[in-house]
Amino acid sequence: MSPGRVAARIAVIGAGPGGLYFAALAKQLAPDRELTVFERDAREAESGFGVVFSDETLDGIARADPRVFAAISAEFARWSDIDVRYAGEVRTSGGHGFAALDRNRLRAILRQRCAELAVDVRYRTPAPPVDRLAAEYDLVVAADGIHSGTRAAHPESFRPDLDQRHCRYMWLATDKVFEAFTFIVEQYDFGVLQVHAYPYSATRSTFIVEAAADAWRRAGFETLAARESARGESDLASVRRCAELLAGHLDGHRLIPDASRWIRFTTVRNASWRHRNVVLLGDAAHSAHFSIGSGTKLALEDALALAAALSEHPTLDEALAGYEAERRPVVESTQRAAQASLEWFETIGRRTGQDVDRFAFNLLTRSRRVTYGNLRARDPAFVDAVDTAFGGSPGVPPMFRPLKLGALELRNRIVVPPLATFTSPDALPSGFDRAQLTGHALGGAGLVIAGMTAVGPEGRATDRCPGLWTDHQEAAWRRLVDAVRAVSDTPVGIQLTHAGRRGATAVPGPDGIGRPLAEGWPLLAPSALPWDAGSPVPHEANDVQLAAVTADFAASAERAARAGFDVLELQFGHGHLLSSFLSPLTNRRTDRYGGPLAHRLRLPLEVLTAVRAAWPAGRPLLVRISASDWAPGGTTEEEAVAICRALAGAGADALDVSTGEVVAHQRPPYGRGYQTPFAELVRTATGLPTIAVGAISGFDDADSVLLAGRADLVAVGRAQLYDPLWTLHAAAERGYTGPGVRWPEPWRAGSRKPPGPNADRVAPRLRLLREPPAPVHRRWSPPRPGATPEE
Ligand SMILES: Cc1cc2nc3c(=O)[nH]c(=O)nc-3n(C[C@H](O)[C@H](O)[C@H](O)COP(=O)(O)OP(=O)(O)OC[C@H]3O[C@@H](n4cnc5c(N)ncnc54)[C@H](O)[C@@H]3O)c2cc1C
Ligand SMILES: Cc1cc2nc3c(=O)[nH]c(=O)nc-3n(C[C@H](O)[C@H](O)[C@H](O)COP(=O)(O)O)c2cc1C
Repeated sequence: MSPGRVAARIAVIGAGPGGLYFAALAKQLAPDRELTVFERDAREAESGFGVVFSDETLDGIARADPRVFAAISAEFARWSDIDVRYAGEVRTSGGHGFAALDRNRLRAILRQRCAELAVDVRYRTPAPPVDRLAAEYDLVVAADGIHSGTRAAHPESFRPDLDQRHCRYMWLATDKVFEAFTFIVEQYDFGVLQVHAYPYSATRSTFIVEAAADAWRRAGFETLAARESARGESDLASVRRCAELLAGHLDGHRLIPDASRWIRFTTVRNASWRHRNVVLLGDAAHSAHFSIGSGTKLALEDALALAAALSEHPTLDEALAGYEAERRPVVESTQRAAQASLEWFETIGRRTGQDVDRFAFNLLTRSRRVTYGNLRARDPAFVDAVDTAFGGSPGVPPMFRPLKLGALELRNRIVVPPLATFTSPDALPSGFDRAQLTGHALGGAGLVIAGMTAVGPEGRATDRCPGLWTDHQEAAWRRLVDAVRAVSDTPVGIQLTHAGRRGATAVPGPDGIGRPLAEGWPLLAPSALPWDAGSPVPHEANDVQLAAVTADFAASAERAARAGFDVLELQFGHGHLLSSFLSPLTNRRTDRYGGPLAHRLRLPLEVLTAVRAAWPAGRPLLVRISASDWAPGGTTEEEAVAICRALAGAGADALDVSTGEVVAHQRPPYGRGYQTPFAELVRTATGLPTIAVGAISGFDDADSVLLAGRADLVAVGRAQLYDPLWTLHAAAERGYTGPGVRWPEPWRAGSRKPPGPNADRVAPRLRLLREPPAPVHRRWSPPRPGATPEE
């Protein structure tokens, strides 16, 4: 197949970086192709500011079109440091690798490349209506930016989702030339202002000022922004106020506006990027918050993938499908990181009590992609300093530091969370429970918690869950705890629950949800609302039944203490009985147990108080909550905080912060560490230790969570089912042999990581002279006038 056959005539809407780069590459691959780019603005229309790239994107550009790469790299400002300026101090993390240039220069270089390749770029020419273009050309590439008219013309095909965020931000430039990527976080009486600044030439830096909506209003910006001004004009009053507020960081330099006004970031997502022979590219298809600096990168990468797909596939349909299939996962992954980053900045006020070292570390790991290990590999001294500031010794990973909970000292910060085995048809702990708990206790975690265990026969979630309401069960648990103790001194906990309306199901299927049993048992709930359409309707519990539930919890807690458990966890999350009292979606009562939060809290607090009295004082009592229902009208962040404060007041020693499973129609944004922000929220608001849980599977992620101060303990569930020796292996992997982990004596011979399959392959030298390692700290220092850029 000859390149260009599938799309011989292509129209491109928009001469931004995405449109121009695509046009140049598509023409380069098939010089016979006819390519027309429509751009409504004038060629010379210039907007200020710079674009910044990471090393990774540059590799792609370098290989796809070396001429463009050579031209843009000749103009790069390059550096490797990130400075965090906060509370009057600066912390610097090195080894990152950035390159930036003037947006206008990038466009000019791409324009020049298009001219060399005879691409027909028509400036001052608004594109004809997209349907007309689609009829006239084989392919229409809509690279028409974040406000894409093409996207708006066919919402039925693209199905766009525009998520406008509440922070306000303003793009500005300054003639202060920063030496590094610089985050400025300043606390004022009205709240926090943050600045994202980076150099992009010998004379300019980009300077983006951002504030959460409430701080922005209190600072008076709302009033300033409300003044009338013509399109394209800047909000000069706000610019002046920013310059005054941030004068300490500008060293007498100016803020330079260019159509600068307060705007709100919109995350653009589209269910499909295609409408017949029209395809979206760049910002038209997706946007990612500027704090991870990747809008231009994504647009250029899209251009690369689309041009390649047109050459690689035999039909246009397959090419467009191939383009979307290749790009969508990459884009969605970037958008998840960008989402975490924008939410971090939206809630920055939660962290401004942190010490500067921890704050800087927290900021740098905000997207959950940059980790403890990444930062250490790039700049060990930076991470050592943060480690030391938090009572660690350099080289001791945060997960291997001890923690005192009540009178109990945990050897390290890793928890095996409750992981039900569903192996108890007789409601007694099974042989598998014994094997699993023993295995996990030997596996190195600081605390192991047995899965959900019912406080009464009707509180079982499934017909294969164990219980703790009879002497027989208590004795069986005692034998199990003794068996664990015989081989390990790891503390062991148990989670007590009443499953409420989530009871009487079969063992959960691959989706984690148990289907109702054909012959179940009566279910108890705050209101007579079934879990799902096919689920049985629960009974609305009366006062007598509620008092019985409280008494059952207290009695089971006493049994758990006698059975020898070190830690007790109460299940107040995941839609179980106490959780469904807390959530407004499941509790519709109008008595003193329903309605306002204080009422919805009543039963959980009665249970907690009764259990606290029944459970030995020095032994830790944990409570698991669902901090979000992931459904409209569910528990809000403010309510989650109020719930946790109340639980702290009633005697919880730590909070195990999970989310969801409260209603069947939930929509959780699953992803790496997605529940961790709630652990951080609760920890900051209550001062109680928190356990972060949910999709934290790498030890590096666990270390990042801990050192950033997002949680005090990290629960690793499925990854410890995959590898019950997860914690021991994390130690071996890093050569850690200190007191934070103990290899079982009989296994000591295996305490070093075995050599891999290629261990005896020794690579010969492949270069005459090795390149010296790049310096950790490289700062932007503009070339002297007249010097060549690399001088
Ligand atoms: C001030 C500023 C600074 C930025 N800095 C960075 C940065 O540092 N790093 C980074 O990665 N990203 C940055 N971005 C984001 C980045 O600019 C965009 O993600 C990127 O430009 C997207 O490229 P694009 O080609 O998809 O769209 P755009 O660059 O928005 O280009 C779309 C083009 O389409 C044209 N157009 C729209 N409708 C029509 C029509 N009907 N007919 C003809 N023409 C039309 C527009 O005039 C425009 O020229 C910045 C954005 C702004 C606004
Ligand atoms: C097999 C299995 C059983 C579970 N059992 C329980 C349980 O009994 N009680 C509970 O609160 N959570 C239970 N969970 C949820 C986990 O404790 C944990 O919150 C969840 O798996 C998310 O962590 P992860 O991503 O590290 O696996 C279970 C999860 C799995 C996979």
